[in-house]
Amino acid sequence: MSRDFRGEVAAITGAASGMGRALALELARRGCELALSDVDAAGLEETTRLVAAEAPQLRCTSTQVDVADRAVVEAWAAQVMVDHGRVNLLFNNAGVALGAPLANVRPEDFHWVFGINFWGVVHGTQAFLPHLQASARESGVRGHVINTSSLFGLLAMPANGAYNATKFAVRGYTEALRMELDLTGTPVSATCVHPGGVRTAIARSARMDASTEALVGMPVEQARAHFDRLLATTSAERAAREILRGVQRNARRVLVGPDAKLLDLLVRLLGSAYQPVLVWFARRSVRAQRPQASTQPPPSRSAR
Ligand SMILES: NC(=O)c1ccc[n+]([C@@H]2O[C@H](COP(=O)([O-])OP(=O)(O)OC[C@H]3O[C@@H](n4cnc5c(N)ncnc54)[C@H](O)[C@@H]3O)[C@@H](O)[C@H]2O)c1
Repeated sequence: MSRDFRGEVAAITGAASGMGRALALELARRGCELALSDVDAAGLEETTRLVAAEAPQLRCTSTQVDVADRAVVEAWAAQVMVDHGRVNLLFNNAGVALGAPLANVRPEDFHWVFGINFWGVVHGTQAFLPHLQASARESGVRGHVINTSSLFGLLAMPANGAYNATKFAVRGYTEALRMELDLTGTPVSATCVHPGGVRTAIARSARMDASTEALVGMPVEQARAHFDRLLATTSAERAAREILRGVQRNARRVLVGPDAKLLDLLVRLLGSAYQPVLVWFARRSVRAQRPQASTQPPPSRSAR
């Protein structure tokens, strides 16, 4: 029988917004206890309030955690065991985006995006794995690590190179982790999640360098709005349900949304030849945007 999450405990990073919040609410509806974390205390409080409205009896704890800080993540994992007595699911979901041509990515921005997107996943996995194993042995319910990569962990995209590097790294890390867990017969599994465009705060909170305009053909504020309006085609709620379905069938890879499924297929069919196809599309869209973009005031050096 497939697991229904009732009576399990899920730890979720990045639970103050977007897919993290939607996962919390969907799991609450299914009777799964929650240990929520995020760096954003106000957003976390709002998620906790929404969970309490959805499932008033449910045990839900929340902790302000910066996933880039290993010691803080380790302390949170230990606290989850004290508060809940067990942990069955870990969603390493927290993430940030960075838009900039690779030639212009500042070292501090590279460190920032890797600290959260890649090291956050490593910190969470290493801190929780012993607890997931112990809980699985005690309860007989398989533990599960769910790491969020991206469609951009399957294909690269101009102006997203630093983000691509973090999400390709999450994919390699999670696929190797899954095989190691298989080989050692550990009662814990791992799934890598690759969402396409999902309607969340990700584009609004992204760091974007003004020089991105040369690659995408529009000023950064217009690019953020363009993502929200046209590219983010899947709701966070639907994404959460697709992710949970993937965990239920113990999938190695979960593609979220029709865009992720289509582009994954394209990359498989074309191999590295997807790159000239993307360059062709990018040139075309830059040309199409130009007259519109030239009516905007000149961009400042950094639009952070
Ligand atoms: N929205 C999309 O289209 C999309 C597509 C592919 C992948 N993703 C990935 O999905 C995950 C969830 O993002 P989302 O779209 O829900 O975005 P979101 O911005 O709505 O949520 C991300 C959350 O991560 C938190 N966060 C940021 N830095 C943190 C830190 N240092 N420590 C702890 N928490 C931190 C934010 O406060 C926020 O609550 C991310 O890993 C993102 O890269 C999103």
